[in-house]
Amino acid sequence: SALPALLRAAPKAELHIHIEGSLEPELIFRLAQRNGLSLPYASVDALRAAYAFSDLQSFLDIYYAGASVLLQEQDFFDMAWAYLERAAADGVVHAEIFFDPQTHTARGVPMGTLIQGLRRACRRAEAELGLSAVLILCFLRHLSEDEALATLEAALPWRADFIGVGLDSSELGHPPEKFARVFARARALGLHLVAHAGEEGPPAYVWSALDVLKVQRIDHGVRSLEDAALVARLAAERMPLTVCPLSNIKLCVFKSLAEHNLPALLDAGLCALVNSDDPAYFGGYLNDNLEQCFEALPALHGGHAWQLLSNSFEASFVAPERKRRWQ
Ligand code: ADE
Ligand code: ZN
Repeated sequence: SALPALLRAAPKAELHIHIEGSLEPELIFRLAQRNGLSLPYASVDALRAAYAFSDLQSFLDIYYAGASVLLQEQDFFDMAWAYLERAAADGVVHAEIFFDPQTHTARGVPMGTLIQGLRRACRRAEAELGLSAVLILCFLRHLSEDEALATLEAALPWRADFIGVGLDSSELGHPPEKFARVFARARALGLHLVAHAGEEGPPAYVWSALDVLKVQRIDHGVRSLEDAALVARLAAERMPLTVCPLSNIKLCVFKSLAEHNLPALLDAGLCALVNSDDPAYFGGYLNDNLEQCFEALPALHGGHAWQLLSNSFEASFVAPERKRRWQ
């Protein structure tokens, strides 16, 4: 059954969206042309046909290649604005948007160029779409902690333009504790803290994200259900899990949506919410994720729908007064 119109239109927060993962093939081609770059794909369709992933790494390789067309401030603005318009159409009234500065600074794009382009789109969304949008700077975990520390320092002239830090990219072999010092530094700076954990990695990575990095949310976290003591802790602390169902299917974390553990996460009392992760690559934005979950998982009912939306606001970093109005 189609997602009820009420749920489609309902106000919601999106807290796990990589802005580089919102770059649609059409925009990749348009930016490549504008910047005089040639792509190793003959057409938009040929590029989209390459979006067949077997795991996280096979996706990341093509995701970083796609992001390589971003050079000018306007490119970052155009990418973020396209996402924000689509999000607003899905009822998103608040978005906490990840960006990966190292993907761009490694190609010689100045930190200010990318942050200012993203910032301009966020400000325009507030003014024209009634959507509050804030930025979370993510460190690439396949790179060293020293590189993460240097990235944080390089971003400090724009400290007012991001509300927190996150940790993404290749999870296996790069446990959270590798980034203990840079997260401690971010914490001292008053930044919010989140990390991807328990997507492909084991429950131990969720434990160390909590205990070593002291994160306030876990991104994905779906493998937490393998560890009953961890589930009890996550429930007791109302630690949010920003779950991304279509992402999990495309990256083969679950075989099919019908086998996704979203109903079990909610029934365990966890503060889980639904997000799109990399919507241009995984076949859908936020309402597509919700709609396909409710179609594929008969265990999900109206109470779960309400819980997911309520959790999205509870888990957000907006001021408590504003949270109460939405919940
Ligand atoms: N970067 C973009 N999407 C990601 C994901 N799902 N996991 C880890 N890193 C990412
Ligand atoms: Zn992610």
